[in-house]
Order: sequence, then C-alpha cells, then structure tokens
Amino acid sequence: MNHKLEEVKNSLKKYGQEHLLNHYETLDDIHQQKLLEEITQIDFELVNSLYKNANQEAKKEKDQITPIEFLDKNKLYDDYRKYEKIGQKSIQKGELAVVTMAGGQGSRLGHDGPKGTYDLGLDSHKSLFELLCDSIKETNKKYDVMIPWFIMTSKENNQATIEFFEKNKNFGYQKDKNLFFFIQGELPMVDMEGKILINEEGQIKLAANGHGGVYEALVKNKMTNKMRDLGIKWVFIGGVDNCLAKMTDEVFLGLAIDKGVCSASKSVVKVRPEEKVGVFCKKNGKPSIIEYIDITKEMAEAVDEEGELLYGESNIIAHLFNLDAIEKMGGAVLPYHAAFKKATYLDKNGKLVVPDSPNAYKFEAFMFEAFGEIDDMVVLRVKREDEFAPLKNADSAGVDCPKTARELYKKFHHLD
Ligand code: UD1
Repeated sequence: MNHKLEEVKNSLKKYGQEHLLNHYETLDDIHQQKLLEEITQIDFELVNSLYKNANQEAKKEKDQITPIEFLDKNKLYDDYRKYEKIGQKSIQKGELAVVTMAGGQGSRLGHDGPKGTYDLGLDSHKSLFELLCDSIKETNKKYDVMIPWFIMTSKENNQATIEFFEKNKNFGYQKDKNLFFFIQGELPMVDMEGKILINEEGQIKLAANGHGGVYEALVKNKMTNKMRDLGIKWVFIGGVDNCLAKMTDEVFLGLAIDKGVCSASKSVVKVRPEEKVGVFCKKNGKPSIIEYIDITKEMAEAVDEEGELLYGESNIIAHLFNLDAIEKMGGAVLPYHAAFKKATYLDKNGKLVVPDSPNAYKFEAFMFEAFGEIDDMVVLRVKREDEFAPLKNADSAGVDCPKTARELYKKFHHLD
C-alpha cells in the first residue's frame, strides 16, 4: 500500500471521515491521486467545528450595535466638486482598480452558466459582465485610462467565464495586462451527520466559500502584488449582480482620499423596515453590517426624531478599500455561516443521489465580517435609482428579478 494512502487513511479515521475512500478502488490513477491530494488539503478541524456550529444559533456575544454616521452624496454641496477633483486625479494617475465578484452560477435565475453571463433581456442582449464593463469603459474614455479589472470566479465557473470573455473579445480588455481572473477558495460540503460529501466524479464535493473569501483570494492569488506593480492604491469591490453599479465613482474615491480613511462603502435608503438587505451599523464602535436575518424587528423599525430609520443605510455591496486594508483583511480568519442546500452526491454504495430538497451544509464567509479588521470607513448614501438594480431571483419572485432590474436599467439610461 502506498505511503500517502496510509497517511490519508489514518487522518480520516481520526476525524470520522473514512467513507471518503469508499470508492477509491474504482477510480483511475489520476483521480486516485487527485482525491488523495484534495483530502490532504482539507482542514478537518475546521470542517468539524463548522458542522458542529451549523445547527446552533451562532454564539452572539454581547455586541454593542449602534447607528453609523453617513454622508449623503446629494448633500455634499461645495465638497462635491472638491471630492470629484481629487477622485479624478487619482483615476488619471492610474490608482484605481475594480474587482467584480462573480463566483456564483445563475441557477436561481434558471440560467445555466456563470451569473455574469446572464442576458438581462435588453434590446442589446448584453450580459451582466458587459453592462458592468460598459460602465468602467465610460470612465476609461473620459480620462483616457484603462482601469484594471479583476474578476473573481470559482472553480466551478472559472473556465466558462474565461471562455465567455474570449468569445466577446474580452470586451476590449487585454487578459493578463488589464484584465485578470482569479479563483476564490472552497470548502467541503457536509451532510446532516457531518460527513463530507463525494461528488459525481468520486472527488470531494467542494463549494465556494462565500464573498468573504475575496480578500484572502486576492492575496493568495497574488492579485494584490499585481495591483502594487500596476501602481494601484484603491480597489473597488462589487458584486456581479447589480447592473447599475458605479464602480469608478470619482466623488466616492475622492471622499475616501480626502477623509484619509482606508475604506468607504455606499448605501441606499432602505425602502421599508422588512426589506431583505443588510444595513450599516457600528459593532462595538467599528463599522459593520447587520444582515437582514439578524436584525430584530425593534431595531429594523427604530426611527430618529425626523422619522428616518436608525438602521436604514442598506448594503449594496459597493466597497472601496486601499491595498493595505485588503491585505490586512486577507490575513484574517473570518467566521463562516452555514447554508442548507441541495447537493448531488455519491452515496456509500456509489449510487448518485439527486435530492429534491436541501440535504447538505455549505459554508460561507461574508465580506463585512472582515470590517472589524479595519478602523475607519466612511459611508456614502447614494440614490437607489442611480446605483442599485439587484438581480437575485427569477421573475416569478417579483422582486430583484430580471424584470425589475431591466426596468431600473432602462429608466436610468433613458432607453424607453
Ligand atoms: C448581499 C448582502 C446584503 C446586501 C445584498 C444587496 C451579505 C451577506 N449579503 O446579499 O447585505 O444587502 O447583497 O444586494 O453580504 N459571490 C461570489 N462568491 C460567493 C458568494 C457570492 O462571488 O461565494 C458574489 C455573487 O456572485 C454576487 C455577490 O457576491 O455578485 C453577492 O452575493 P449574494 O450571495 O448574491 O449576496 P446576497 O446574500 O444576496
């Protein structure tokens, strides 16, 4: 018996995951090696502790949550021009880069492929990627620059994403010169007994580790080094699913520079207390976000003397960081949240199981969990109709769906 196999067997025994080798003998040489390699990469202590916590109410320490101050982009008055000029100068000097987090598939939209390749149904039939790129290119043209664009993919969709870009001539960008792809981290999925699942190919069933993995992925894949080489100082990070995202906003950038902070985030006013968005707050005095599932009804409904929601600044995943902040957050250990999902797997008899209801846990870290690592953040409220058209659900849901996103996009761009 080979030495590595013996070693792997011992470690699996220690963690109660011996079943991972059930189908080992049926695999060809390459897949056997791949499986052993994957198993040695697993942090079993972490996976076991994540499973243990999955069903328990996350230990909520006595965090002190307080409202956060913010500035309103439409009430900056004379400062507006000042920030705009500072931001323009920084962009002209080539200090800004954009990161688009596009690790997800479009499955909730009924789309077979990376979410960014989804055709929103406009007359132009442009994909989400192209709509985002159009917005960056507008700034490129204005300042005669080429803002470097970094796309975070997952193992699952990396190949398909790169091929899609190639098919579209990279939308005028040049791969490895000003367009970079990097793959986010993954964690094994476990069943309801805490056993790691095996996928269709007899390998470990892995899933993307959430958008909180973006900082670590930027650092581990040496994207931050690349950014330094390119002279980048500021990095905008946004999702792929907001077709109105303004990723190269001069005023936003100038504000962060002028205030001397290491990060800035955009918010929009929450439309109603129960809207399913995270809201900005301070947690133990530091900038943070409370996700909608964690906010109490009382907090969600609390208002100030003017009747405005105390926790009414919604997260639209539009964050700006300097490089030091990204590197710091990239080295932090973030808490993971367990999501109960449907996962196809091979059972112990080698039979493929395709469940019709959730059967496994996936572990994800959230971007804002890293904010505790940084001290200063300025929150800038922007107009929802100018900057937020989220695409999360199929049309049947009626909200944050292709129909609503399309309407918002058309209205902003006067396409009707
Ligand atoms: C998120 C925010 C919520 C905010 C809302 C606005 C969190 C936990 N939730 O919700 O506060 O109000 O958006 O739309 O931050 N992604 C990856 N890899 C992953 C997971 C996600 O690249 O592993 C990307 C997605 O492709 C997407 C973005 O991150 O572009 C947001 O992820 P998503 O899971 O859609 O966030 P929500 O839970 O909808």
